[in-house]
Amino acid sequence: NKAEIAIAIDGPAAAGKSTVAKITARKLNYIYVDTGAMYRALTLKSLNSEIDPDNEKALIELLTLTDIELIQGENNQHVLLDEYDVTHDIRSEQVTNNVSYVAQHPLIRKEMVKRQQKLAEKRGVVMDGRDIGTHVLPNAEVKIFLIATVEERARRRHEENLKKGFSSDLDTLKKEIEQRDLIDSKREASPLLKADDAIEIDTTSITIDEVAERILDEAYKVMGQKGD
Ligand code: CDP
Ligand code: CDP
Repeated sequence: NKAEIAIAIDGPAAAGKSTVAKITARKLNYIYVDTGAMYRALTLKSLNSEIDPDNEKALIELLTLTDIELIQGENNQHVLLDEYDVTHDIRSEQVTNNVSYVAQHPLIRKEMVKRQQKLAEKRGVVMDGRDIGTHVLPNAEVKIFLIATVEERARRRHEENLKKGFSSDLDTLKKEIEQRDLIDSKREASPLLKADDAIEIDTTSITIDEVAERILDEAYKVMGQKGD
C-alpha cells in the first residue's frame, strides 16, 4: 500500500479546480473536499436569514449554529446545509455574487479552515479552494495552482450555466468573475495566492484529462519517493 498523501488545488474561479479534483480523487480513491461549497452554503444561509455579508459578528454566530456536510456520490458531491440538500442552490448567481464578501472575514475563515483540516485528517484527500496550499494544508505533498484566461473561464461557466438551466450572459459573467477574483486576491485574510511550492498549470488550452494526468503524475512521483 502506498502512503496516502494530500493534494491541494487552488486557483481563480472556473479554472477547472473542482472538475480535475474530482477525477484525481476518484482515481486515487481519496476523499474530495470542495471548500468553496462550504463558503457558498454559509452564504446561502446568511442570505436566507437576511444577514448583511459585511456583518462578521452575525455571520460567525450563524456559522456556529450551522452544519455543513459534503457527501460523496458516484459522480458528484452533495452538499447538505443543516441536513437539507443545497447542491443546486449554492450555485445560484445571488450566492456567487455574495460569497466573496462572506469569505473575507478572518473569523469565518478560521472556523472554516478548522473544519476543513478536520475533514483532511482521516485519509488521502484532494481539496480545492483558494488558500489550501497556503493555509489549510501547508504540508500537502502535492500543490497545484490552476490558471486560465478570464475569457476562457467565463466561457466555461457560461456553458455550465446553460446546461444547468440558469440564465447566463457571457459579458456579465466575465465581469462577475473578475470582480470575485479581485476580492479573493486582495483580501487580507488568506487571499488567493500561489504557494511557493505549488506547480502552476495553465488550463486555457488543455483538456480536463490532460490536467488530471499531470496532477496524477505528480502524486505518483511523490508516493514513489515516500516508498512502501
Ligand atoms: O467554483 P468557483 O471557482 O466559482 O468558486 P468556489 O470554489 O465555489 O468558491 C466560491 C468562493 O468561496 C470564492 O470566490 C471565494 O470567495 C470563497 N472561497 C474561499 O475564500 N476560500 C476557499 N478555500 C474556497 C472558496
Ligand atoms: O472549480 P472551478 O471553479 O475552478 O472550475 P470547474 O467548475 O471545475 O470548471 C469550470 C468548467 O470548465 C467545467 O464545466 C469544466 O468542465 C470546464 N473545464 C474545461 O473545459 N477544461 C479544463 N481544462 C478544465 C475545466
